Amino acid sequence: MPEPPHRRRAHARSSDLERYAGLFAARTQVMRSSAMRDLMAVTARPEVISLAGGLPDTSTFPPQTFAAQMTRIAQESAAEALQYGPTEGFRETVDCIVEVMGAEGMLPDPEDVIVTTGGQQAIDLICKTLVDPGDAVICEAPTYPGAIPVFCSYEADTIQVECDTEGMRIDELEAVLERLDGEGRRPKFVYSVPTFQNPAGVTMSLERRRRLVELARSRELLVVEDNPYGLLRFDGEAMPPLYQLDGGDFVVYVGTFSKILSPGIRLGWAVAPPPVMDKVVLGKQAADLCTSTLTQYFVREYFRDGNWREYVESLAGIYRSRRDAMVDALRRHFPPQATWTEPDGGLFIWATLPPYIDTSDLLAKALREDVAFVPGQAAYVDGSGHNSMRLNFSAGDEEEIREGIRRIGKVIGEQIELYGALTGERSAAFQPKQGADESESENVVPFRKAGEGSA
Ligand SMILES: Cc1ncc(COP(=O)(O)O)c(C=O)c1O
Repeated sequence: MPEPPHRRRAHARSSDLERYAGLFAARTQVMRSSAMRDLMAVTARPEVISLAGGLPDTSTFPPQTFAAQMTRIAQESAAEALQYGPTEGFRETVDCIVEVMGAEGMLPDPEDVIVTTGGQQAIDLICKTLVDPGDAVICEAPTYPGAIPVFCSYEADTIQVECDTEGMRIDELEAVLERLDGEGRRPKFVYSVPTFQNPAGVTMSLERRRRLVELARSRELLVVEDNPYGLLRFDGEAMPPLYQLDGGDFVVYVGTFSKILSPGIRLGWAVAPPPVMDKVVLGKQAADLCTSTLTQYFVREYFRDGNWREYVESLAGIYRSRRDAMVDALRRHFPPQATWTEPDGGLFIWATLPPYIDTSDLLAKALREDVAFVPGQAAYVDGSGHNSMRLNFSAGDEEEIREGIRRIGKVIGEQIELYGALTGERSAAFQPKQGADESESENVVPFRKAGEGSA
């Protein structure tokens, strides 16, 4: 009798793999696993404090609101909600998207919008539409770790441009573009998360936004602006999205309901000029025919009473307190050699440790202390970022955040002690800071301050 599937998987050997190897497409050679997906399996253990995921706190969404909306859908439009829908999405969903983009000052033409299965699918469809094997795609260093597996799946030549406190370095981008000109290559697009970036938490300055849009227009260069976090601002003035500055000629926009409502509904969108959109629609037809009708109905119901912004504001308030708790804990428990970003919004802090610490090794030790983070290497295509880490402050409460940072600080301290003992470097000795206060702001230097190094 054949073994049940779960037993077969457990017993899979390399000889079994060989049976299928001749069937795999060439692209599977360069496909990469998403570091966060892998980590989710480990961090599912209830005793683990996970600062690894990018999870919004869905426990803040009132269950009675969810129940009331789903009940209304069941009572008033069950048959339609359970049916297939148009590939582009329902016009009512698009109207909600236009309202969300309007809240950040954008005015897209509803005809240019497609509803997708999360922002992730929008990135995938854009690559499917534009990228042939070997094509140059430019993104930030570090970049959104979930974009790397997509670029790899389409066999892009991914080129990363350094990010500092003001976002992507446009002078470096220009140098890359000139190099590609010299090689006779036209990059397919520049991918950027300009606001409260995942993973670094930094926001592109207005001056750089203007320069990037000018570059896009003068070179007819497509820019993909991925903006899941723009409305989750805790401090400072809102920045105009690239899409607003450009008006939608050269900026393709990616948005999502995941961080302002729920990732479980898997609703995102893309906005693109008509010739690009036509191809994206064909790509989506082939991928999944249409986005979930049921969750589009849910969004339509949810937006009907106009209170969605209040919920987003309440989320921003909660995340602000959690960011403050994380920053305070970092000051107390991370060594003086560490630096980190202090974002004005979003979900993430990026910490950089002394170069002799490898955060992938450190993660194994951290997991023994029941705490997790994303090692920095997940945000680079070339193995850089080994001494950095992404820390999430939206998923857990303040107590968990403080305890999680304490535990990570402890394993970092052990690594530093070990390095000191092996090399005899006394300066490596680690003293955790008790009762750290605001004045210790010299630590709040991210990877590099804008203006340091070359202009
Ligand atoms: C920058 C960025 N883009 C896209 C996504 C994908 O989000 P979703 O597919 O849930 O819309 C995420 C999720 O964390 C993200 O941080």
